[in-house]
Amino acid sequence: MKKYILITGGAGFIGSHLVRLLVNKYPDYDIFNMDVLTYAGNLENLKDVEAKENYTFIKCDICDLDKVRNVFKEYQIDHVIHLAAESHVDRSIKDPFSFAQTNVMGTLSLLQAAKESWSNNYADKLFYHVSTDEVYGSLGEEGFFTEETAYDPHSPYSASKASSDHFVRAFHDTYGLPTVISNCSNNYGSYQFPEKLIPLFINNIVNNKPLPVYGKGENVRDWLFVNDHARAIDVIFHKGKLGETYNIGGFNEWKNIDLIKVMIKTVDRLLGREEGTSEKLITYVKDRAGHDLRYAIDSTKLKEELGWEPSLQFEEGIEKTVAWYLENQEWLNNVTSGDYQAYYQKMYTKYTMYQEVKKEIESFGFSVVSHDFERPWGGFLVIDEIQAQEFSNKFFEGIDVNTLKIGGKLSPKILIVKPNARLSWQYHNRRAEIWQVYIGSAGIIRSDSDVENEMKIYNKGE
Ligand code: NAD
Ligand code: DAU
Repeated sequence: MKKYILITGGAGFIGSHLVRLLVNKYPDYDIFNMDVLTYAGNLENLKDVEAKENYTFIKCDICDLDKVRNVFKEYQIDHVIHLAAESHVDRSIKDPFSFAQTNVMGTLSLLQAAKESWSNNYADKLFYHVSTDEVYGSLGEEGFFTEETAYDPHSPYSASKASSDHFVRAFHDTYGLPTVISNCSNNYGSYQFPEKLIPLFINNIVNNKPLPVYGKGENVRDWLFVNDHARAIDVIFHKGKLGETYNIGGFNEWKNIDLIKVMIKTVDRLLGREEGTSEKLITYVKDRAGHDLRYAIDSTKLKEELGWEPSLQFEEGIEKTVAWYLENQEWLNNVTSGDYQAYYQKMYTKYTMYQEVKKEIESFGFSVVSHDFERPWGGFLVIDEIQAQEFSNKFFEGIDVNTLKIGGKLSPKILIVKPNARLSWQYHNRRAEIWQVYIGSAGIIRSDSDVENEMKIYNKGE
């Protein structure tokens, strides 16, 4: 039977895979892709289907209720699959308002437009809302999220998705709107914007850039190949029961650091490098605020009631994914130009700079024994104590490291050299008995007193 399906967010990562699947599989359905084309939306992702007769792109903000109402009217929309969202947790920590706006208010405006347009004639209508496992919060070492797990979101992103899920259920319970919701685990595959772990790291390994691992890399995610998510949406769209929720996941948990090592090996091998050589790019950085420890989806209901199972083993999926990004450098270059540069600069420049200086120090034979890039005024690399005088001889005109000063006061363990020089600070850390090299620039280390205060705190062990 003919359907007029509005897919929102179809120019994004998962949306583009879903649009491609439905346009090709169901020539009788008319597919309307509504997307405002944020940084994450890219019509390049749909080049292969854009000329198909049953596909139409509509540039529209889901928050613009009047425009959304018109789309429902003009195209006689009878089914919605709603994916449009702000989707990156790190961005939500920096800017929660745009997440509330798009994910909550945008969902509400679609629900309202559907309700008005279908005006109680709900036969053969459906509002399908695509959500995430992050609404359930975080698991300990054991257990799984089921459809019964209570909501417990922690990030502004997951809070906004949880709120949108509640609005969808409220429209079902209050107005009888025919709805269905699915909550999926982490997706990976082609066309994912390189701010997310897998494409970001593949791109950085290729370009020999640091790989910023949050915390100790011990968080666990449950990874599903994006095409399998699209297949699951197809199944739930056609066979799911109204008012129900379905969890989607592949029982495929990976600790971040283990997954990262698999990616490194795969990229190294496919680039003809010795496997594992890129492990030196791993850079442990400050943990994500509110970082959920573990996600793991129990998708038994979907399997038993609707017969869906993932089609691909992870090893095969990651191989295909890495190969796709290597073969599609042009796509990567396009999406990483423009705004992406500013974003990357804001998020990662510090790590890149420290990594470069570390390499430089090591190239002179000094060993960097640890680092901390997250001090309020910048960060530091730690040099083995026995190399301190030698280091001073090399970089700091041989100043005696036992007679050093800070802020004009004699402090036998502290040295200030060449303010604004690239390698500009070092002092002795009494607790750890090791030497520290401060990497400074006018912008990063603001003043002597900043450093002095910082050292007081540091030496007190706070
Ligand atoms: P994405 O960021 O790659 O794509 C989002 C798309 O939505 C983009 O094309 C963007 O232009 C569009 N969009 C954003 N704001 C819009 C607005 N106001 N109006 C119209 N379009 C707008 O996201 P994704 O990773 O493909 O995720 C898609 C959906 O699936 C989201 O709802 C997300 O919460 C959910 N989800 C994602 C994952 C995952 O691992 N990526 C897992 C589970 C669920
Ligand atoms: O679980 C589903 C969710 O998966 C989706 O709802 C989100 O839209 C999607 O972005 C994803 O969220 P995550 O936060 O889990 O994905 P991300 O790729 O950002 O991070 C995966 C893990 O890797 C997470 O534990 C944080 C860590 N990480 C991430 C980045 C970007 C790093 O260690 N370093 C990084 O640079």
